[in-house]
Amino acid sequence: MPRIVNVALGERSYPIHIGEHVIETLPALLHGRAISRIAVVTNPTVAELYLARTEHSLAQAGFPIVTITIPDGEAHKTVATWTHVHDRLLAARLDRKSAVLALGGGVVGDIAGFAAATYQRGISFIQVPTTLLAQVDSSVGGKTGVNHPLGKNMIGAFYQPELVVIDTSTLATLPLRELRAGLAEVIKYGLIRDRDFFAWLEANAQALLARDPAAMAHAIEVSCRHKAEVVANDETEQGERALLNLGHTFGHAIEAGLGFGTWLHGEAVAAGTVMAARLSARLGWLPEPEVDRIASLLSAVGLPIEGPAFGADRYLELMAHDKKVIAGNMRLILLRAMGEGVVTSDAPVGDVRAVLP
Ligand code: NAD
Ligand code: GLY
Repeated sequence: MPRIVNVALGERSYPIHIGEHVIETLPALLHGRAISRIAVVTNPTVAELYLARTEHSLAQAGFPIVTITIPDGEAHKTVATWTHVHDRLLAARLDRKSAVLALGGGVVGDIAGFAAATYQRGISFIQVPTTLLAQVDSSVGGKTGVNHPLGKNMIGAFYQPELVVIDTSTLATLPLRELRAGLAEVIKYGLIRDRDFFAWLEANAQALLARDPAAMAHAIEVSCRHKAEVVANDETEQGERALLNLGHTFGHAIEAGLGFGTWLHGEAVAAGTVMAARLSARLGWLPEPEVDRIASLLSAVGLPIEGPAFGADRYLELMAHDKKVIAGNMRLILLRAMGEGVVTSDAPVGDVRAVLP
C-alpha cells in the first residue's frame, strides 16, 4: 500500500503518494480530474529508464500525451530551456485545461514547474520525482524556477503541484553519488526538527545506502511529512521555511568557490552542515558530542564533512552572495539543540570565521 502524506494548503492542498511502482497507479490518481492533455517533461537519461512506463500508465488513463525532452544537467536550468518548454507547449496547442507532468530530478521538476506556473498564466502541475533529493525535497513545496547567469534559482515562482507521485523503485538506477547527496537532505530534517528521526538514521544508515525498500520508504515518508509541515506553516519562506537551508549558506560558498557542479549540492550541504554544527557548539547551543554524531552520520553515508580550505575571507565573500542575505545582514541556520533548528543573524563574525577552513 502506498504511504500518503498531505500538504495542507487549503484549497491548494495536495497529496504525496509514496511507494514502489506507484507510477502504475497514475490512472487511479488522475481519475476524475478535469485534465485535457498531459505534457510530460523529462530528460534523455530519465526518459530512457522511465518514460515508457509513465506513458503506458497515462495512456491507460486515456490522457493524450505530449513528451517534451530537455537536456540533462544543471547547466541547462536556464531561461532558454524554460522557453523551449513553452515553445513545445504552444506548438502542440495545449490549452488551459492541460497539465505538465515533471518526470525526473530537481532540475526537471524546477523547470517544468516554472513552465506550468507561467504557461497561459498557470496550468496544472504534477511531480513524479526520480532522484532521492527530488523525492524528499524539491518536488514538495512549490519552489520552481531557473538559474540566471548572475545567480542560481534567481528567476522563478512559488507554484504548488496538485499531486506528487514518488515511485521508490526509480531509486534502483540512481548513481550512488546522487543517492548520497539526497541523504544529506534527509539528515537535515532530523537535525532541524526531529531528533528521534536522526537516531533512526544513525541506526539505518547502511540499510539506506543499500537501498533497502522499507528503510528508504520510511525515510522518504518522514522527510516528506516534515517538508509538508514546514511548507504548510510558511509557504513563501517568511520564517520557518528558511530552516530547510541548514548548511546551505556554507555549502553555497563551497559550490560557488569550486565552480558549480564540482561538488554536488548535497555534498556541499553536508560539509556546510558540519560548519553550522561547529558554530552552534561555539555559541554554547550544541554539545560537542552532538557535533561528532552529526559528522559521523554524514561520513557514514559517504558525504564530505570538511569543506575546501579557501580561508575565512574567501568564504565570507562567497557567503555574502547567498539569497538569505537581506540588506547585507547574513542570516544563518544553526542548531539550538539536536533536532531544533534556528534562524539567526546574531552569530558574531569572529565565531563564524573560526569554523571556516
Ligand atoms: P538532477 O535533476 O540534475 O538529477 C541528477 C542526475 O540524476 C541527472 O543526471 C538526472 O538525469 C539523473 N537521474 C534522475 N533520476 C534518475 C534515476 N532514477 N536513475 C538514474 N539517473 C537519474 O539533480 P537533483 O539532485 O535531483 O536536483 C537538483 C536541483 O534541484 C537543483 O537545480 C536545485 O536547485 C533544485 N532544488 C530545488 C528545490 C526546490 O524546493 N524546488 C529544493 C532543492 C533542490
Ligand atoms: N529546499 C528549500 C525549500 O524548499 O524551501
